[in-house]
Amino acid sequence: MIAQVLPPPPGVAAWTGWEERVRLMVKPRRYEHVLRVAELAAQIARANGLDDMRAYAAGVLHDIARDLPDHELLRLAPPECDIDAAHPLALHGRAARTLLERWGYQDRVVLDAVEDHTTGPRGGNPVSSCVYIADVSEPGRGVNADIRELALTDLTAALERAIVSKVTYLQGRGIQVHPRTLKAYHALPCNAHLPCPT
Ligand SMILES: [Fe+2]
Ligand SMILES: [Fe+2]
Repeated sequence: MIAQVLPPPPGVAAWTGWEERVRLMVKPRRYEHVLRVAELAAQIARANGLDDMRAYAAGVLHDIARDLPDHELLRLAPPECDIDAAHPLALHGRAARTLLERWGYQDRVVLDAVEDHTTGPRGGNPVSSCVYIADVSEPGRGVNADIRELALTDLTAALERAIVSKVTYLQGRGIQVHPRTLKAYHALPCNAHLPCPT
């Protein structure tokens, strides 16, 4: 059944075997997206000499809370800002982390990447960058092929392009940018000259 919080599978601390758990928690088309993100995140990680197994694991797990109802998201991830409260979907990364932690999942690199996939990497975790980029550029999206290709040779530049284009898009339409995304934006090397957001 979709959108139901299920009990943990055996071997919760391991990253393998989670595909089936995720398949049971998301809509079929979402599951196809999840597998494409996992494959692409691993490919980007390999191309950049990073941990492709962790990138794959985070790709598999990143949207595990994406199809939960709003009240479940709010329960798992209490809002940090007005955007979270008004749009609980913005919480699905943090909610996924909470869920995985409650099930005993302990790999912090993977958990950070799962949490940060909605609002942007914090603290320079390169696996988070791989997953963030894979999520916005996997082939099923039909957009951002340039970011996908750039990520295979220059992860930093690809992340920069992904975040700048997102912030520019939102601001151009008068849509409020999530504070975490704004923080990621201001942390980019290309924006080092800008004042930090309050
Ligand atoms: Fe997501
Ligand atoms: Fe996703």
